[in-house]
Amino acid sequence: MMAMTAECEALPGGMLNEGAVHRHGELVERPAPRNARALHAYLLALRGHGFDAAPMPVGLAPEGRERLTFLPGEVALPPFPGWAMTEAALASVGRLLRRLHEAGAAVAVDTRAWWPRDLADPEGGTMLCHNDVCLENVVFRDGRAAAVIDFDQVAPGRPLWDVAMTARYWVPMLDPVSAAGFYPTGLDAPARLRILADGYGLPPRDRAELPGVVEQATEVCRAFVARRVAGGDSVYVRALAERGGWERWDRIQAWLADHRETFTAALLG
Ligand SMILES: Nc1ncnc2c1ncn2[C@@H]1O[C@H](COP(=O)(O)OP(=O)(O)O)[C@@H](O)[C@H]1O
Ligand SMILES: [Mg+2]
Repeated sequence: MMAMTAECEALPGGMLNEGAVHRHGELVERPAPRNARALHAYLLALRGHGFDAAPMPVGLAPEGRERLTFLPGEVALPPFPGWAMTEAALASVGRLLRRLHEAGAAVAVDTRAWWPRDLADPEGGTMLCHNDVCLENVVFRDGRAAAVIDFDQVAPGRPLWDVAMTARYWVPMLDPVSAAGFYPTGLDAPARLRILADGYGLPPRDRAELPGVVEQATEVCRAFVARRVAGGDSVYVRALAERGGWERWDRIQAWLADHRETFTAALLG
C-alpha cells in the first residue's frame, strides 16, 4: 500500500482529461474510463508478462476516478522540445512500442468488456493496442522513452495500426506547415519513419503497408475530431480553429498521398 501525501499537483498534458489529472506524491488520480476494471486487469497482465514500463493500477477512487502509480521522468509538451525529437529518442519509442506489443500479444482480450472505438483500428484485431502513443503519453528518462501512460484508448487492433498512430505523432506524419509551431523545423519525415520502423523491428511486409495504414489512421483521427466538434466539445472546437480548421486536415491528407512512394522507398530501401 502506497502512502498518500498531502502534495497535490495538476498534471498538464492531454486534451481529453485536461485539468482533471492530479498527482498525489507517488500516485496519479484521474477520471476512470468506463472500462477501468478491464483496463486495470490488462495493465496487471502486461506486468505479469514482463512489461514494466506502464503505470500500475492502484484502484478506483470516489467520484469515478482511478489511481495509478506515478512514473518519474519527463513528458514532452507542445511546442515539443528538441530532446524529444532526436533520432535516438525516436528509435527508443519504436523499441518501447515493440516491448508493449510483445507483452500485449500474450494477454487475452477481454471480449466481454467495452473498448472505445474512437481511435481504434477499424479492421479490429486479436490483441489490445494503445492507439494513443503521442508525445504527451510517453515518459522519458535520460533522453530515451522509458514508459507509456494514458491507456484510455486501448482497443483491439493490428499492432501495425499502433505503429501508424505512433508515427503520426513522433515522425510526425504531417506536412511542414501543419507541423510548424508544434515541432522543430527541418525534420526529415521519410528518414524518421524508417528510424521508428527500425527501432520497432517492423517486418518487410508491414513496412510495405505502413504508409497506407498511416493514411487510414489519419482519416480515423480526423473523424474523431469531427465527432467531438459536432458534439460541441469546446476543447476540440478551439483547437481546430487555432490550427487552421479542416483545411489543415485536407493539407495533411494530400501531403501523405503525395509522399506515399517516398515513404515506402525509405522504409524498404
Ligand atoms: N502515471 C503517470 N506517471 C507520470 N506522469 C503521468 C502519469 N499519468 C499522467 N501523467 C502526466 O499527466 C499528463 C496528463 O495525463 P493523461 O493520463 O495523459 O491525461 P489525458 O487523458 O488528458 O491525456 C500526462 O501527459 C503526463 O504528463
Ligand atoms: Mg494523455
